[in-house]
Parts: sequence; structure tokens; C-alpha cells
Amino acid sequence: MKFLRSLALLMLLVFVSPITVRGWGVDGHFITCKIAQGRLSQKAVDAVNHLLPDYAEGDLASLCSWPDHVKFRYHWSSPLHYIDTPDNLCTYQYRRDCKDEDGVMGRCVAGAIRNYTTQLLEYGKQESQYNLTEALLFLSHFMGDIHQPLHVGFTTDRGGNTIEVHWFTRKAVLHHVWDDSIIETEEERFYESNVENLINAIETNITNVWADQVQTWENCSRNQKTCPNIYATEGIKAACDWAYKGVTNGSVLEDEYFQSRLPIVNWRLAQGGVRLAANLNRIFG
Ligand code: ADE
Ligand code: ZN
Ligand code: ZN
Repeated sequence: MKFLRSLALLMLLVFVSPITVRGWGVDGHFITCKIAQGRLSQKAVDAVNHLLPDYAEGDLASLCSWPDHVKFRYHWSSPLHYIDTPDNLCTYQYRRDCKDEDGVMGRCVAGAIRNYTTQLLEYGKQESQYNLTEALLFLSHFMGDIHQPLHVGFTTDRGGNTIEVHWFTRKAVLHHVWDDSIIETEEERFYESNVENLINAIETNITNVWADQVQTWENCSRNQKTCPNIYATEGIKAACDWAYKGVTNGSVLEDEYFQSRLPIVNWRLAQGGVRLAANLNRIFG
């Protein structure tokens, strides 16, 4: 009886515990969207509140993983989460690389950011032909994806999805290490598995350590509302310099990789959040 009661308590803890570990998996998107939310202008806050469904209660971050959940229902949307560039070139060109596997131009994460930005510019006009709620959720999600270095990766390994490694003692693919594992390990080791604590730490770095870079992150050339070609070019460079660097099939990635890549992950999460806010402020401004 005592054993059964302990078992029930354990199950309760496992399934109801608020300290769940989520993983540019869920946590990466939550973090970029939360950082963005804290930097929105009043006009952008009003527009976001108006576009979000009531059950979101004004919290954009709570729905930023929605596009990952509809990949299968909206089959057309799955190539919009990434860009495949030529192996080992470490450069990105819109005309060369932004297409899906059938070669349809513009069907990549950079093209999607452009497209949903254009749609959202119809906000406030009468009878937009677009679903602007979905446009907001797609744009917010894709701004996160494009800042995950391996979402702008090489073609043959599908952004690290076919590179099998060990993350400490566990098997993983390199892509998943960058979507989830680095963030999860950081949360566990340094932030009591609490994503809010990590968000606070990144926000503190934005106002202190990276303060003199922030304006450059926000800037966009020639009065553009968004600059996905800049984000993608930085992405493939970070993929080459940090994600792929020193990794081959079977590599064991542990403390040295974790400690040296963690600042890059935090920096890209910060850039994604700052830029999502800057883009929404320009769109709804
Ligand atoms: N599928 C093919 N390439 C990919 C990438 N770079 N990221 C995520 N999924 C992919
Ligand atoms: Zn995605
Ligand atoms: Zn991914």
C-alpha cells in the first residue's frame, strides 16, 4: 500500500511537475518570442493582442511553436522552416538556395519571412485576403528558426539531421543538439531547469554585454521591414564556424563542445528575439 502510494506520488510528480524540460524545439521558440514581446512598441502590442486568439491571453510566446505542430496538416509548410545550402561552401544566396526540393523559388525560411511580413503589412486595411493570425505565428516562429545555425545548413546532411553523434552519454543527431540539447543542458546546469531564469539572463546580456551590437542587429538596409538574407548569411557562417566544426559521424560531444557553443546559442536566441521585435515594430508602426 505504501509502495502504491509512493508510486502514485512519483507519477504525479513526473506528469504534473512544472519543472518540465522542453527543449529551437519548444524552448528556443519560446525564448525568442518572449524576448521579442518585451521589446514591442504600443502599436505592435495592440496589433499582436488583436491577432492572437483569446485563449493565448496576449502571450505570443505561448503559440510560437504552433507552425511545428501543423507541419503535417499543412504539408506545404514543411520546407519553409529551413534553407539547404551547397555542402561546405558556408555562403548563402537567395537565388541559388531559397527553393524547395522541387526547385520552387522562394520556398525556404528566408522567403517565408518575406512573404508573411508582406501579408502582415495588410493589417488594418479592409478585408485582407490573408489569415493574419497565422501570418503572425508563422513569422514569429520562422524568425526563431532562421537564427538556429543548422536551419541554414548543408544539403547532403539536411542541416545536421543525418549526422549521428553522442550528446554526453546519449545518442542524438547534430541538428537536435542545436534545436534542443544545448538549451536543455544549459537550463538544467545553470537555471534550475527554469526557462524564465534563462530568459532573464539573456535579457540582462542584451542590455549589458551586447548593448553596442543591438542597433546593428535591428537595422535593415534600405527601409526594408525585414532582412532575412542577412540572418541566413550569418546562420550558415555560424553553422560552419561552430555547429559543424570538428564534428563527424560518431563524434562524442560533451563539456568542451557544450561550453564553447553555449554562448553562440544564447547570442542567436538574443538576435532572433531582438529582430522579431524590430520587424513587428516596423510592420505595425
Ligand atoms: N530538412 C532538410 N534540411 C533541413 C534543415 N536545414 N533544417 C531542418 N530540417 C531540414
Ligand atoms: Zn520550425
Ligand atoms: Zn530544427
